[in-house]
Amino acid sequence: MQKKRKQIEWIRYEQDEVLPKPYGQLLQAAEEGWKKAWAPYSRFLVGAAVLLENGQIISAGNQENAAYPMCLCAERAALAAAASACPNVVVQALAIKVKNLKKKLTQPATPCGACRQVLYETEQRQSGQKITLVLQAEEGPIVVLHGADTLLPFGFDSSSL
Ligand code: THU
Repeated sequence: MQKKRKQIEWIRYEQDEVLPKPYGQLLQAAEEGWKKAWAPYSRFLVGAAVLLENGQIISAGNQENAAYPMCLCAERAALAAAASACPNVVVQALAIKVKNLKKKLTQPATPCGACRQVLYETEQRQSGQKITLVLQAEEGPIVVLHGADTLLPFGFDSSSL
């Protein structure tokens, strides 16, 4: 019998702390994503911005639909837009900013399960190069996580197929 343990690590910056250079810019781009969101049903705006290895930043917002299950999260919209605009370019980081039009949020939200799985696959596609996640609400602390497995330990991948 062997008992094993996995640990996760994250960094929390206070709003007024100086952030490492690309994070501030990426959070701003994620905020731009709010303008691209279509969220009349939930009134929960999610902006996501991808930083690519070639320096390009691509942002997107969540896309809802009157047929609710068809809603597309901002993270997956941004990753798909990046993969379409710049195929096979490594994704280095993804910033996610949330804004609830019904109440003020001061704590970041983390990606949903489906988005975690897509982030996991994105890392597999880039030979395991980890994606840094930068999370913030409208205001408040910034949480930084390194690698999809911090949010999806024991993720499913193609090695079983
Ligand atoms: N949403 C995202 O865009 N990303 C997530 O990780 C969680 C949820 C969107 C989907 C829907 O448009 C709204 O937020 C409420 O669930």
